[in-house]
Amino acid sequence: MSLPPGFLDELRTRSSLSQVVGRKVIWDPRKSNQGKGDMWAPCPFHQEKSASFHVDDRKGFYYCFGCHAKGDAISFVRETENVGFMEAVEILAREAGMPVPKQDPRAQEKADKRTELADVTELAVRWFRLQLKTGAAEEARAYLERRGLNEAALERWEIGFAPDTWQGLWDALKGKNISDELILGAGLAKPSTKGGKPYDTFRGRIMFPIRDARGRAIAFGGRAMDPNDNAKYLNSPETELFDKGRSLYNVKEARTAAGKGQTLLVAEGYMDVIALQQAGFEAAVAPLGTAITENQLQMLWRIDPEPIITLDGDTAGQRAALRLIDLALPLLEAGKSLRFAMMPEGQDPDDLLKSAGKGAFQKLIEAALPMVQLLWQRETEGRVFDSPERKAALDKALREKIMLIKDPSIRSHYGQEIKDLRWQLFRPKKSGSTPVARGKGKWDKTPPYKASPAAKTSVLAAAGDLRATEHLREAVILAAFASCPQIIEEFESGLEGMTCHDPDHRILRDLMLRHGAQDAAVLREKIYSALGPDALENLMSQRHVAITPCIRNPGDTEMARLTVAEELAKSEAARGLDAEIEEAVEDLSGVADEGVTWRLSEAARAADLATRSGQEDKAEYHVGDNGARISKDERSAWDTLLGTIKFSKAKGDTTDS
Ligand code: UTP
Ligand code: MN
Repeated sequence: MSLPPGFLDELRTRSSLSQVVGRKVIWDPRKSNQGKGDMWAPCPFHQEKSASFHVDDRKGFYYCFGCHAKGDAISFVRETENVGFMEAVEILAREAGMPVPKQDPRAQEKADKRTELADVTELAVRWFRLQLKTGAAEEARAYLERRGLNEAALERWEIGFAPDTWQGLWDALKGKNISDELILGAGLAKPSTKGGKPYDTFRGRIMFPIRDARGRAIAFGGRAMDPNDNAKYLNSPETELFDKGRSLYNVKEARTAAGKGQTLLVAEGYMDVIALQQAGFEAAVAPLGTAITENQLQMLWRIDPEPIITLDGDTAGQRAALRLIDLALPLLEAGKSLRFAMMPEGQDPDDLLKSAGKGAFQKLIEAALPMVQLLWQRETEGRVFDSPERKAALDKALREKIMLIKDPSIRSHYGQEIKDLRWQLFRPKKSGSTPVARGKGKWDKTPPYKASPAAKTSVLAAAGDLRATEHLREAVILAAFASCPQIIEEFESGLEGMTCHDPDHRILRDLMLRHGAQDAAVLREKIYSALGPDALENLMSQRHVAITPCIRNPGDTEMARLTVAEELAKSEAARGLDAEIEEAVEDLSGVADEGVTWRLSEAARAADLATRSGQEDKAEYHVGDNGARISKDERSAWDTLLGTIKFSKAKGDTTDS
C-alpha cells in the first residue's frame, strides 16, 4: 500500500484535528483556547470527568495526560472508528476533499492478481460448502454435530468438507475455466511429482475458511477426519494472498465486536474461536498454527490495547506464554499490554466452555494475570530461595527480562512491581507478637526493644543524602528538558511520574508537561511569568547542572535523551528507596529489626543497580561517537555525584551478583 510522497503530510495539513476529534468529545470551554488551537476535553479513550485530553490543532497531535493516548488525525480515526490505516486515510481524504491517489501500476497489477486469487479461494469455499451436504460427508456432519456445531454455526463459519479424492476440487475449478496457475497460486492444489495432474491440497478434511480483515477468503484450515492422520490440522501454504504471520482467524468479526466494547480474546485453535463466539465472546481470534508473531501482536494491539491470551493448561501452553512475553516486552508502550488467562490442566477454551460453561470461563477471564505477574510466577513457582545464590539467580533472571523492555517508564514500573513481589516473598517472617508492618499506621505502639543510636543516625543520614541527590537529579532532568524541549513529548509519562521534592521543580515540571512539547520560546515565556526572570538561569547554572554534558552541548538531542532516560530511571529507583527509608525511620523509633536493615539494603541495592546500569551505558557512550566530548574526570565527578548512596550492607545479604 504505497501512497505518493507528501500525500500524508498534505492530508494532515488539510484535516483539522480538532474538527475530527470534536465529533467524539465535548470540549471544555474554560480550558480550551480555540483561537490558538489549544483544545481540551474529557478523554474519549478512558473514563474520566476532568478534561485531560489535549489537542494541539496547529501541530495536529493529541495527547491524554490521564491514559497517555496520543497520535494524529489518522490514528484518532483508526482508534475511534476501529478501521485500518488505509481506511482511515480514505475517510480523512474524503472529508478533506482530496482524491485518494491510484496505486502505482505494478502495485495495481499485484493487487489485481491478489483479487483473482481471492476469487478462486472464494469458489473453493463454496465448493467445500456444497461437499458437506453430500453423502460422502455423512461422517463429517456427524462429527461436527458431536462437537456442538448446529446448522446455523456451520453457516456462520462457512464450514465445508474436502472429500477424500485426489482431484475433486481441481476438476471442479478446471470445469469453471480457472487457470492452473491460479489454482496452484492459491495453494489449493500441488503439482504432481510424477508428471500427472496436480492434486488437491486438502483431502478427507473438514474445512475452515480463513478470511482477512476485509473479509476476503485467503486460505483454509483443514481438520483431518482420520484420527491417525499425522497432521490433525493442515493449513494452506503461504501464498501471495496468505501470510500466516500476518493473519488471524476471525479477525474481521472480532474487530467489530471489540469496537463495541468486548475484550479481545486470543485462543489457540479454530474450534476455540468458534466455541467462544457461540458462548457470546465474539471478539475472539486465533493465530494459524504457529506461535504469535510480532506482526500479529501489533494487529492485536490495534484492536484492543490489552487483549487476553487464553492459554491451554499444559506445559506447552505455558511455554508459549513465555515466548509471547519475550516477544512483547520490547514492544510495550504506555497503555499496551497483555493479560493471560490460564485454562485448567489439559483443557482448551472449547473444552472448558463445554465442560464447565460460560460462567466458569468468564471467571477465568476476569482473573487473567497481568504480564508482570506471570513473569514472576514462572520464575518463582514451586522453587525455594533459601540461599543467597538462589536469590541472586532469581534476581538475574528477572533483571534480564526487565531489561528487554525498551520504554523507560514501563521498565521502571516493572522493576517496582517485581521489587514489591520480591519483598512479599522474602520479607522476614517474624515469630512472636511483634508484627512487621509494611505501611504506616499498622504499627504496634508498644515496641519491646529500642533501636541503637547508630542505626538510627545512619538511616537518617542516608535519608538526608538521598534528598540532596534527588534534588540535584530533578534539576538535571528539568534542565535537560529546558535546553532540549523537543524530547519532552517522548518522556511525558516519566516526567509526569517524577516526584518533585522542590516546589519550584514541581511548577517547572507542570509547565513542561503543559507547554513543553510545543515550542521552546513559549515554554520559556511561561517559566518567566510563573517563576520570574531568573528561574531558568538559576536552574541551568547550578554547579552540577552546568557540567552536565547535555547542558554544555545544548544542541545535542541524543545526549539529552540519554541523560534524561538514565536519570529518570535512577530517580524511579531512588523513589523506592525513599519510601523504604521513610517507613524505616518510623519503624526505627520503635524497633530495629532485621527486616528494616534488610529492606534498606535491598532498596539501596535497587538504586545501586539502576545507577550502575546507567554507568555502563555511559561508558559505552563514551567510547562511541561522542566520546571526546566528556572528559574522564568530568565523568567520574558526575558519576560520584549522582551515584549510589552507599549503605553498610546488612549481614547475610549477598544477593548482589
Ligand atoms: P490443538 O491440537 O490444540 O487442536 O491445536 P484444537 O484446536 O483443540 O482442535 P480440536 O479441538 O482437537 O479439533 C490448536 C491449533 O493448532 C493448529 C491449529 O490451528 C489448531 O486449531 N494445529 C494443530 C496445526 O496447525 N496443525 C496440527 O497438526 C495441529
Ligand atoms: Mn480443542
